[in-house]
Amino acid sequence: MTGHVVLVTGGAGAIGLETCAQFLAANAAVVVNGRDAGRCEAAAVQLRGRFPGARVFALAADVSDYAASAALVADVEAAAGRLDGLVHSATGGAPGVLGKFEQTDPAQYLTLMQRSLCTLLNICHAALPALRRAGGGAIVALSSDSGKIAAPNQTLQGATRAGAMMFIRSLALEASADAIRCNCVSPTFVQGTPIFDRMLAQDPQSGRAARAASRAKLGLPTASDIAALTVFLCSPAGAHLTGQVISVNGGLSAA
Ligand SMILES: NC(=O)c1ccc[n+]([C@@H]2O[C@H](COP(=O)([O-])OP(=O)(O)OC[C@H]3O[C@@H](n4cnc5c(N)ncnc54)[C@H](OP(=O)(O)O)[C@@H]3O)[C@@H](O)[C@H]2O)c1
Repeated sequence: MTGHVVLVTGGAGAIGLETCAQFLAANAAVVVNGRDAGRCEAAAVQLRGRFPGARVFALAADVSDYAASAALVADVEAAAGRLDGLVHSATGGAPGVLGKFEQTDPAQYLTLMQRSLCTLLNICHAALPALRRAGGGAIVALSSDSGKIAAPNQTLQGATRAGAMMFIRSLALEASADAIRCNCVSPTFVQGTPIFDRMLAQDPQSGRAARAASRAKLGLPTASDIAALTVFLCSPAGAHLTGQVISVNGGLSAA
């Protein structure tokens, strides 16, 4: 992927950082994005250490804000010269939105949409013209199988994730005329990440994470497994794949 520039939102996060590393291993340049400038820069320093001579940029921005998303894409083009790939790995929740629907807090619904779904809409809207200017490219949105498989206590989480999936599938049909491909990578649990570790710690014997780990007969994926698929989808090897939502869950389900 020499010459490609890939923006990774949430690039200093567990999956995002490993994704940046695998793009660098494929000779692409990466832009590490997150809200915390210090965290982005620390991730960039770590990546430059692992891949001497690689082009790594750190650009902080909150992509739940549209103006910030547009400025981020402009900054990517100014710093790196072009944009060929967008990986949206930034994630955000809101207080009071987990649990049985009737017990969720309606005052937080918009915050959840803003942080979970609108971040994707904002960065895609901002990035599409830049991808077109580069002659085409690829978008990969990290999602979650909670958007495919109905489950109690996940009504709002599932709704935002399903929304992201259908957005990406529909956008894929619009954007293919400009040689822009759009896909979702959808894990259930990703072992070794803080999100998974927090869930496991809640009930290490019989909680959801523990049960999933024993039921996934191929083993739950790691961030490295997720990153490998994301890089594939953005690379020339994925040139004919678009509009897909690919679950990576070690055989936990066939969603
Ligand atoms: N880990 C799992 O088990 C798992 C399972 C299923 C799905 N997923 C999905 O996979 C994706 C990545 O997960 P992860 O485990 O890597 O999460 P993570 O470690 O929490 O990383 C997410 C990153 O997003 C950044 N972020 C949050 N809001 C942002 C915003 N508005 N603008 C820019 N950056 C923002 C955060 O950095 P700052 O705080 O510095 O902004 C953080 O580094 C998410 O969509 C997640 O839901 C993960």
